[in-house]
Amino acid sequence: MRVKSEQPLAGIVPKLLAWFDRSARPLPWRRAPGVKRDPYLVWLSEIMLQQTTVPHAAPYFAAFTSRWPTVEALAAARDEDVMQAWAGLGYYARARNLLKCAREVAARGSFPETEAGLRTLPGIGPYTAGAIAALAFGERTPAVDGNAERVFARLLAAKEDWATAKKRIGVLARELVPADRPGAFAEALMDLGATVCTPRKPNCPACPVAAQCAALAEGEVERYPIKPEKTARPERFGTVYVLRCSGNIWVVRRPPSGLLGGMLALPSTDWSETRQDAAAPTDAAWAVLGQVRHVFTHFSLRLDVWCAQTTDTDLPEGFWTPEEEIEGLPTVFAKAAALAGLSARQKR
Ligand code: ADE
Repeated sequence: MRVKSEQPLAGIVPKLLAWFDRSARPLPWRRAPGVKRDPYLVWLSEIMLQQTTVPHAAPYFAAFTSRWPTVEALAAARDEDVMQAWAGLGYYARARNLLKCAREVAARGSFPETEAGLRTLPGIGPYTAGAIAALAFGERTPAVDGNAERVFARLLAAKEDWATAKKRIGVLARELVPADRPGAFAEALMDLGATVCTPRKPNCPACPVAAQCAALAEGEVERYPIKPEKTARPERFGTVYVLRCSGNIWVVRRPPSGLLGGMLALPSTDWSETRQDAAAPTDAAWAVLGQVRHVFTHFSLRLDVWCAQTTDTDLPEGFWTPEEEIEGLPTVFAKAAALAGLSARQKR
């Protein structure tokens, strides 16, 4: 389908593509124009980049692809190894779905090659299906992430409520995708949003489509997108225990589903809306080291950190792990371990 000539933004497509050819970010999952991309690498990068910035995701992408270079290799990995390698990327349901998806693709023999087919896989929503179909298979599909939505909200000076605006943007973006370079169009929008049309202090003089931007014409670029006010995050409280024994630290595995499901953890009380009495996993000379804070999507958490040495190796649940091997802890626990002087890598 050709872009209708009355489509007011039709003119942005060649400008965006020419700008992208000059200024594309050289990211590890990208390939030179015209080079076919491995759907496994596209899929893996897109899952990692959901809710995660490019600089934070890049080292994980390198680690995963050197350890599991194909979808079959990832499908054959042990769950614990993948969860541990994911530690610090957050949103751990993504890692559980990553494994499910890898196993399904390995069982099917390959990735489905269309947006509709990709939607049938675990963990692949409309954005990710569009991105993989466009980037790996050249299908004429849009991939409108938060960056691209901001770009369009500004180009259109979209004033309707945000849910309605997003629908309009989705329809418009689908019409605009050029048949010959759908992947370049998707990544051009991502790069424009990430490097030029930024949430604050956009660099409009560097923008290839400034002449088409209704928000710039109004002189109010940062007013867009107009989103509903966020509700305040509730707080939760708890206590976390750093229990040490001759160079080892006591860890537990979280239940398979729910928050941080399947991840290694330090033992802790429940995280509740009111402060509760501590409930240490064993009697010991506990020292209170201080507090760590961590922000999750739906609440922010304050954990008191208690630390003790013990010789009790007969605790009801969990196991000892060498202190130098605690990288596999999600960031909230890595922060607590760091407060106890343990050198867990500080990730997100
Ligand atoms: N965010 C999501 N996908 C991306 C990609 N392919 N390049 C840069 N940023 C992205």
